[in-house]
Parts: sequence; structure tokens; C-alpha cells
Amino acid sequence: MSHLFSPFKLRSVELRNRVGISPMCQYSAVEGMAKGWHFAHYGSRAAGGAGLVLIEATAVEPRGRITPLDLGIWTDAHAAALGKIAAFISAQGAVPGIQLGHAGRKASCAPPWDGGRQLSDAEGGWRPVGPGRVPFGGGLSRVPWELSEAEIADITAAFAAAARRAAAVGFKWLELHAAHGYLLQSFCSPLTNQRADTYGGTFKNRIRFLMEVVRASREAWPDELPLAVRVSATEWVDGGWSVEDSIALARRLKPKGVDLLDVSSGGNLPDAPIPSHNPGYQTPFAERLRREVEIPVAAVGNITTATLAEDIVASGKADLVLIGRKSLAEPYWPLKASAELGGSPAWPPQYARAAL
Ligand SMILES: Cc1cc2nc3c(=O)[nH]c(=O)nc-3n(C[C@H](O)[C@H](O)[C@H](O)COP(=O)(O)O)c2cc1C
Repeated sequence: MSHLFSPFKLRSVELRNRVGISPMCQYSAVEGMAKGWHFAHYGSRAAGGAGLVLIEATAVEPRGRITPLDLGIWTDAHAAALGKIAAFISAQGAVPGIQLGHAGRKASCAPPWDGGRQLSDAEGGWRPVGPGRVPFGGGLSRVPWELSEAEIADITAAFAAAARRAAAVGFKWLELHAAHGYLLQSFCSPLTNQRADTYGGTFKNRIRFLMEVVRASREAWPDELPLAVRVSATEWVDGGWSVEDSIALARRLKPKGVDLLDVSSGGNLPDAPIPSHNPGYQTPFAERLRREVEIPVAAVGNITTATLAEDIVASGKADLVLIGRKSLAEPYWPLKASAELGGSPAWPPQYARAAL
């Protein structure tokens, strides 16, 4: 029997298999509101057989959007629109999850298909915020607003409010986005956090904002539901955030009620050399965190074949596998992978005749 297609339980939530759809921005919202595209996109991936469907990075406040087209959840009306998608995902037998995020100094950009550069206020952009006044670099040159301690507390509260709203409309899995150079990770990294207050300097100070967001979100999110954190396990540069830092962070997150780490990497520096062409290139980090911290992990990153995904779970490298770009091209990847591994996937009855 396939390990990939065996159930996985965290708290009260059981996934029908260990395949998740990685959170992927669709840049198709209007003032943060989910629209038809989101319904069709997430709905078809739930019908495609995944155990977990994670809604893309959803901003906890308007300034936290990467682009003006990002999803948001800063009002109950935003949550209600997302809740319809969550209900449909559940009806297909998948677990609806949502990633909450804040883009920090990488906010206020054009969507990738318009070049991704940072937008001026006149172009509909806004001033990004961050740990300090250092821009991301590359094409992102806007000088961020340095958050005060009071503003950090406001954003922490916005994460908690967003978590509460997500639970109220039927999401069963919460992921906090603390990777890819967005706000929470930019505070953690010694390369991008030069603050002199209690949020900068030592390791403990740099992770303080994330720890506070975890505590506030865990309090706002039901006890019986799982909470995950996406981390960038390494920045891929000497002197930057390292796997050892991630292990130290994970040891602190676990007792605070974080149930799983979604192990990504990079994104905090524009020019880091990332070997993303290698299949499963981030899986060794997931494996290490799982082994050394004894915490459930999701592996992600260039996992595109059923055999690789099966091997990752069967050999104990990860508890879950998240499929990103491949699932954009193939919404029914999980059903096909199950068949390839010898299973008898349950196609939706409407599509039963697709299984030739
Ligand atoms: C179009 C697109 C949008 C993405 N948006 C997000 C996002 O919202 N949150 C996130 O954590 N990662 C995001 N990612 C990264 C993916 O979740 C995933 O980690 C990455 O693509 C590597 O997995 P893959 O090789 O299977 O695509 C995005 C990737 C793509 C291609």
C-alpha cells in the first residue's frame, strides 16, 4: 500500500492522503476579495484528489499584500468569500487550509505577468513596511517604513483576528507564512534585521515577532485544529539564517502549539544561489527538522513525480508532500499519482469515466 496515499492526522483533522497543494498566489483578487477564479482554481484542486488544499498567502492587512491583486482577510466580508471556497473544498473530501501572510518589504508590487516591479503610490502602490529602512533590492527599491513596537503589536493582532475569521468560515488548517523574505522572516534574519530594540540583535529578539504571532494566532485558532508555520530553512548564503537557526526556532515553536513545519527556503535576498532545478531540493531540510526536533514536516520544492513523493513519505523524510507548480499544470495530479502507485483513486463521480 502506498505511504503517500495513507491518511495523516493532526489534532482532530485527518487528511485522506499526504498530498497537499502548496500555497500559490493567484493575483486575481479585487481589493483582497476572492472571486470566481479562486473558486474554480481551488475547487478543481480539491476535486483533483489532494488531501490538503492550502489557499495562497492571504494578507492580514492591506499593506501586507504582495500586489494589489492579492487575497486578504482583514474584514469579515473577505472571510465570507473565502468560506465559500472552504466549504467546496471540504465537500470534495479535502481539508481546506489557508496561509496567512504579510509581505513586509516585498509588498506593493506589480503581478509577475506585469514584471513584478514595485509600484509607486501613483501607480496604486503603497509604502512597504519592514524591520528597518533597507529595501529588498533587485527590482524592489522602495524604502520600507520601519515598524514601531506599537505597529508590530497591531500586526500581531491582525494575524490573530485573521485566524479567528478563518476558523469562523470553516477553514480547518492554518499556516503562518514565515518564509521567503516576507515580514516575519525578514525579522528573523540577521541580514535584514538591524534593529536595536527588543525585536533585533540576538536570535531570541529576532524571532520575537514570529513567536508573538504564533502565540496570538494559536490563542485565536481552535485548539482542535492544526497550526503550521512555513519557514525558509536556509537563506543559502554564509552569515544568513541557517538550518541550525531553523532547528533552534523549531524547538521553540513546537511547545507553543505549532503542529507542523512547512519547510521551504530562500526568498529573503534577491541573489541567493538556490538549486531549485534539483528534484526535492528542499527535502533534506525537512528531513533534518523532522529528525532532530521530532516535529511533523511537509516537504516542498520540485517534487513532481509520484515515485519521488512516495519515497519522501515512505522513507520518513516528511509526513506530507506539497505540490506547487506541477499542480498548476495538473490539477488532477493526486488522482493520477495514486493510480500510478497502484491505488484505485476515487475520481469525482462526474469524472468517473475519465479513469480509463
Ligand atoms: C505562482 C506561484 C505563487 C506562489 N505563491 C506562494 C504563496 O502564496 N505562499 C508561499 O508560501 N509560497 C508561494 N509560492 C511557492 C510555492 O508554494 C512552492 O513552495 C514553490 O513553488 C516550490 O514548489 P514547486 O517546485 O512544487 O513549485 C508560489 C509559487 C508559485 C509558482
